[in-house]
Amino acid sequence: MELDVSGLQVTYAGVIRALRDIDLRVGTGEIVAVLGSNGAGKTTLLRAVTGSLKRHRAKVDKGQITFGGRSLVDAHPADVVNRGVVLVPEGRRVFGRLSVEENLKAGAITVRSRATRAERREKVYGMFPRLAERSGQRAALLSGGEQQMLAIGRALMSGPRLLLLDEPSLGLAPQIVTHIGEVLKQINQEGTSVMLVEQNAAMALGVADNGYVLELGRVELSGPAAELAASDDIASLYLGRGHTGGTDHDDTPARPDRPGGPGGPGDGAGGAASPTGTAGGAAPRPTLSRWTPPARGRFGLLGAGAATGTGRP
Ligand SMILES: Nc1ncnc2c1ncn2[C@@H]1O[C@H](COP(=O)(O)OP(=O)(O)OP(=O)(O)O)[C@@H](O)[C@H]1O
Ligand SMILES: [Mg+2]
Repeated sequence: MELDVSGLQVTYAGVIRALRDIDLRVGTGEIVAVLGSNGAGKTTLLRAVTGSLKRHRAKVDKGQITFGGRSLVDAHPADVVNRGVVLVPEGRRVFGRLSVEENLKAGAITVRSRATRAERREKVYGMFPRLAERSGQRAALLSGGEQQMLAIGRALMSGPRLLLLDEPSLGLAPQIVTHIGEVLKQINQEGTSVMLVEQNAAMALGVADNGYVLELGRVELSGPAAELAASDDIASLYLGRGHTGGTDHDDTPARPDRPGGPGGPGDGAGGAASPTGTAGGAAPRPTLSRWTPPARGRFGLLGAGAATGTGRP
């Protein structure tokens, strides 16, 4: 099943236009990275897909979102989950007072079959042995990395076809970020499509097939992940290396958080990682497409005016 977003425009409180004219696609079986700096509209895009705009006083005022050909615009959040689209929200948000096991159970609340629940739980424990070791422990006592694993595990309990993640690497140590990247590849190989929202471009482009860069609510750049990773714009914006226009000094340190670099996950699974993002097949891929603004102006509020968030008289 494929996620298709076309011409999407989203506005908060009737005035703050957070997304405009977004075209984006997550093909069946793909991992798609969505990059962008703070306020670019990444979370808003996830809210739009998961039917949760309303609770943030936002709405789709133009465009379409379909999953498997059926519209998700204005769908109820629970229906979106039932259709197989599940979000791992920013900031993990596990139930701190509940045990690891109870958190997983909560993720399977819509799953009727006890056998299916047990099977999925074992799968999650297989993927995250640390969670199995700590199944009876309160989630609040887990480390940040373990909580992120639990948040992902909880999402997997509902058997998603499309897993959405909002900045899963935020605040985590490089080795854990690498591990999360590997886990996402594994989840994907087992048949779940993934839309990965990240500010960690190195990790995201390392595991993704295709990527999109949002800036100020627009798709600024899109294309195969490997090409994005190699592009000067991405390098200067997100990877901390080089700059556009060919500066002659090359102060390009290999990023320690770059997946595939030395020092894999601490579990001795070294060598398993191959996240160089060979974007499937050897066929030449289309090159990057860049959005060019019709006229340079400020985005954010409808019409011209102050920057987003400053309010309006
Ligand atoms: N509840 C809200 N009410 C009004 N405006 C909002 C609301 N949530 C987000 N916005 C605005 O929408 C724009 C996009 O925000 P969004 O949270 O989607 O960005 P983001 O890319 O997820 O940023 P970050 O990396 O900081 O999480 C911003 O200008 C933001 O101020
Ligand atoms: Mg966000």
